Formats: sequence, structure tokens, C-alpha cells
Amino acid sequence: MKHYPVMLPEVLSGLAMRAGEVCVDGTFGNGGYSDAILRSAPCSVIGLDRDPNVAPRAAEMTAEWGNRFRLIQTPFSKMDEVGLKSVDAVVLDIGVSSMQLDQAERGFSFMREGPLDMRMEQGGGPTARDAVLYLSADELTRVFQVYGEEKRARHVANCILSARDSGDIVTTADLADILEAALGRRGKTHPATRVFQALRIFVNDELGELYKGLCAAERLLKPGGRLVVVTFHSLEDRIVKTFFRRRAGEVQGGSRYAPEVKNTGPAASFTLPKRSVTKPSKPEVQENARSRSAKLRVAVRTEAAPFEQDDRLLPDVISLAELEARL
Ligand SMILES: C[S@@+](CC[C@H](N)C(=O)[O-])C[C@H]1O[C@@H](n2cnc3c(N)ncnc32)[C@H](O)[C@@H]1O
Repeated sequence: MKHYPVMLPEVLSGLAMRAGEVCVDGTFGNGGYSDAILRSAPCSVIGLDRDPNVAPRAAEMTAEWGNRFRLIQTPFSKMDEVGLKSVDAVVLDIGVSSMQLDQAERGFSFMREGPLDMRMEQGGGPTARDAVLYLSADELTRVFQVYGEEKRARHVANCILSARDSGDIVTTADLADILEAALGRRGKTHPATRVFQALRIFVNDELGELYKGLCAAERLLKPGGRLVVVTFHSLEDRIVKTFFRRRAGEVQGGSRYAPEVKNTGPAASFTLPKRSVTKPSKPEVQENARSRSAKLRVAVRTEAAPFEQDDRLLPDVISLAELEARL
């Protein structure tokens, strides 16, 4: 699969890098953004990725850019704990890379047979197979409903429970077969799509990472620093939108009956140059279908102190730690 960095012109315009500035690319992946950022201005980039498989691509970048580029293997939720001093820009491109999807042995794709793993870090923590084997029917239902927006979540969970009672579920193909039998083939989307997405988000605590990553960026960015976030899922965009609006001093809930009121809490830690979301251009969607659900938001750091981290923004779903304790 060809790798396209999604919404690249819009990302570069949001980052607006200048000479001598430092950008954290929190989701290095295939280096598409990092490379373009380094070409956009005489600046430097620190790439972060939780997946050790990006190391060879990062080594190529270091060979080309010398001390203008380096990679740190870490989840981006810890970007302010890896020795970085305040930075001028942070970009996050949430989700999996085409490289990860293409590697059957990573277990991300129902189109390729491999172990049911899905851990971006390739070690530690429960796998997708552990989730499927050791979560209860209620817990699986909630994971599929919340992270996959799967309408027939309860039915799918029950089918998985029957299948795990009668035999083992080991590979992506085993699970894809169960899902196809449970949901049938209707419409263009493969019946396994939503459940695979839900398991991936769960196994990598992707929403927790996103929220903590935004808070870490808030602590790391200089006044005037730009934060650019690209998401692909409505749940992710909701977290970014709510975070940005709260940090910009707006209280959620603007409607005819409950108009948005100015926050009386802490001083705004971000301003929003553009309140609305930016979507990919039509030509980009035609060229790269994966970009069609992308949404980009930009915020600019003020001089105010960071807000307190408040994890209640996240949906109430069983935590990875609870599953890990059962294994
Ligand atoms: C969509 S790809 C990024 C593609 C990249 N923008 C490019 O142009 O090549 C997402 C990457 O972010 C990484 N990733 C996802 N969640 C992460 C997290 N919480 N911390 C660090 N890296 C993460 C994945 O391992 C993957 O390599």
C-alpha cells in the first residue's frame, strides 16, 4: 500500500515552522510529516513513536538530516517526560500506519491472516486475543459499542463467547470468520471493520493516549507554540474538540437553550485560530480514500499555566489494566 501523509499542506500551514524552531512529530510512522516539516523550514524535528518497527525509517532520516532529526521511542503521552525542553510545535496524526496494517504478523488487519495481537508497542500488555478470550460479554459489548460504534455489539459479543467456548480464537482470520458469520455481508464495509477497530483502540488505549498526549503537549509547548491534531474517528475528534474548547476558555454545551458562556475557571492555555474543523480537499479524498474521515484542528499555546489533567473526559469502558490483572 502506498503511504500518503494525510492533509499534509494543512498540517504544514498549521505548524508554520520558522528557522531554528523545534517540532515534535508525536506519531512519526513512516516519517511523511517529519520529512515535509524539515523541508518546509530550517528547523529541527523530534519524532516519537511507540512502535519499535519505525527505527529503520528513522535511521534513514537521521542519515539524511543529521542533527536536525532524531527519534525517541515512546508513547506521545510521555512527550514531556523524555528530557525535551519547551518546543515550538507538536503534531499528532492519530491511528495506525499503512505499514502496520500491511504487516500480517502484527494482527491489525482482517484482510491478512496473522496472530490476533494489535499491540503497537509489540510487547507488554494484553493482546487483542486476550481481550476476546478474557473479557465478559458485557465488557466486550461495551468495547464494540463505544470504540467501534457497532450497532449489533451485544450479538457480536455473544457469538464470540459461543466461539470461544467451542474452540480457540487465535488468528485474525478466526475472528474475521466469526464476525462474518455473526453479521453477514451487507453493504460495502466488511463486517469485521468496526470490531477490529474497537479492539485496536482498546488494546492500545488510544483514547487515553490521545487525551494524555494533548495534556503533555500543553505542558511542553512554549507560548505561541502550535498544536496540530489529525484524527480519523468521531470519538477522537470529540476529545480534541472538547479539550481545545475547554482550554480556550469556552464551556461546552452551546445550543439555543444553553448558549456557550465564558469559562470563569483558569486562564485560557490555548487560543483557537479557527474554531471549526478542517477536512481534506476533494482531490485528496479521490487520491487517498483513507483520508476521507480525517479531521484537523489547530490550537496555539498562550502564556497561561497548563490546566489540571481530568481523565473524566474519557468514555467509561473497562481499562486495559483491569484485563491485564486477569491474565
Ligand atoms: C497514522 S501513522 C502516522 C503517519 C505519519 N504522520 C507519516 O506521515 O508517516 C500513526 C503512527 O503513530 C504511532 N502511534 C500511535 N499512537 C501512538 C502513541 N500513543 N504514541 C506514539 N506513537 C503512536 C503508530 O505506531 C504509527 O506509527
